[in-house]
Amino acid sequence: MTQLSIYSDVHPDVNLADTSNRDEITALLGAVGVRYELWSADVELQRDAGDEKILSAYGREIKRLSDEAGYNSIDVFRIAPDNPNRVAFRQKFLAEHTHDEDEVRFFVEGSAAFYLHIGDKVYRVVCTRGDLLSVPAGTPHWFDMGSEPSFTAIRLFVSPEGWVAKFTGSAIAETLPLFESGAASPAVAQA
Ligand SMILES: [Fe+2]
Repeated sequence: MTQLSIYSDVHPDVNLADTSNRDEITALLGAVGVRYELWSADVELQRDAGDEKILSAYGREIKRLSDEAGYNSIDVFRIAPDNPNRVAFRQKFLAEHTHDEDEVRFFVEGSAAFYLHIGDKVYRVVCTRGDLLSVPAGTPHWFDMGSEPSFTAIRLFVSPEGWVAKFTGSAIAETLPLFESGAASPAVAQA
């Protein structure tokens, strides 16, 4: 289930908001300049659909967004729980970092969590099938795919070569709940 949880960045044990309503998620993220959209496929996709079929099924939305934001490099990333490099993959983006360009992901299937550090808050977005999330360039954030990662995502870039993580050195990621698929809503105290 798609879920947005908002935390204070200095009191991460305090949950300021928690919603799985996609309209609310769109509004709450939009208010801080983050694009969240719900996409639907133009055709029914088989579970084992290849990259070409996936990109074709969402071609209309991909074109609309690319035309609007200038994304001209698009690929499909997939990871399964038995991936031998899953620990290293997870670790790679688990600390707070920024990019010089937007980090744009559309979830074809599976789930993972983005954590966006904006102002004095952290927006934890558990993305699932149908979710398009764009982390704006320069926004401190991190990404957790869980210990048994399972998702397929379309990635949209202006330039994949320029998509490099710049780590902030902050340890804030260690203070927020990790992501585990099947545990979308972490147990935290309500404000
Ligand atoms: Fe990132």
